[in-house]
Amino acid sequence: MTQIDKERWSSMADCYDRMADYLVPRYHLLQDEVLALLLAEGEPGLVVDLGAGSGIFLEKVLKAAPAARAVWVDASADFRRVAGERLAPYADRVTFVLCPFDEAWEAALPAAPEAICSMSAIHHLDGPGKRALYGRCFDALRPGGWFYNIDEMSTLYDDAYRRTLAYWVGHVDRARRGVPAELQPYARAWCDRFEGWKRRNVEGAGGPKQPGDDIHESFVAQMQWLHDAGFVDVDLFAKFQLWSAIGGRKPPAGGTD
Ligand SMILES: C[S@@+](CC[C@H](N)C(=O)[O-])C[C@H]1O[C@@H](n2cnc3c(N)ncnc32)[C@H](O)[C@@H]1O
Repeated sequence: MTQIDKERWSSMADCYDRMADYLVPRYHLLQDEVLALLLAEGEPGLVVDLGAGSGIFLEKVLKAAPAARAVWVDASADFRRVAGERLAPYADRVTFVLCPFDEAWEAALPAAPEAICSMSAIHHLDGPGKRALYGRCFDALRPGGWFYNIDEMSTLYDDAYRRTLAYWVGHVDRARRGVPAELQPYARAWCDRFEGWKRRNVEGAGGPKQPGDDIHESFVAQMQWLHDAGFVDVDLFAKFQLWSAIGGRKPPAGGTD
């Protein structure tokens, strides 16, 4: 292990990249459901991932759809570095846009995309921020294109929502023991950060939130916001504990199909 390798666990992006599979419940299952829905429409030309992080989802898209191009959008230079390494084999098919959601990432898109996807990122925006972003995704998509958001969302009832928070805490406690020995420094770094998440979201439940915090709005409200933005076929495509995969389609040009 080189000196750089030894210290990589201290980077949030490296840590997330190595630990999501272990410590985010059903991480791949939820991504793979959305990937299957995406591919069911035929091979996409252009796919955008908002808050694409280390590029795990885009790597799956680029592997499964050899003609597809992808746009990585994220505000973090740390995640940009890790995604650059992961997506290096597909470098000629990826555009990197280092940009926060509330700035003009759309201006950097090479074409109107067939799909805009996101996982575990949009919940950092407050309600008006989410609504505004959903509207901008609608505008950016090609007619007939799909938007999918897999994210931390609350549910219909507060008691059930609190159980989903407690489930994640229990999951991390159990799953960290199954992390291989050589990756344990990443698990420890993740769990140190997760203490802050617990303080803010479990012990401090119901406290005030501001953009950048974990702002868990219900999947029902967010589906309504997608519908309000103009999306059709809006649905809850998958749900496991705190994570819901919701989405909708921009109507095709010329009306119904
Ligand atoms: C928890 S990570 C998830 C990464 C990836 N989507 C995944 O599921 O593996 C959240 C990502 O969203 C990005 N992000 C959060 N808020 C953002 C914002 N307002 N604008 C752009 N990126 C944001 C972070 O930089 C980070 O890469």
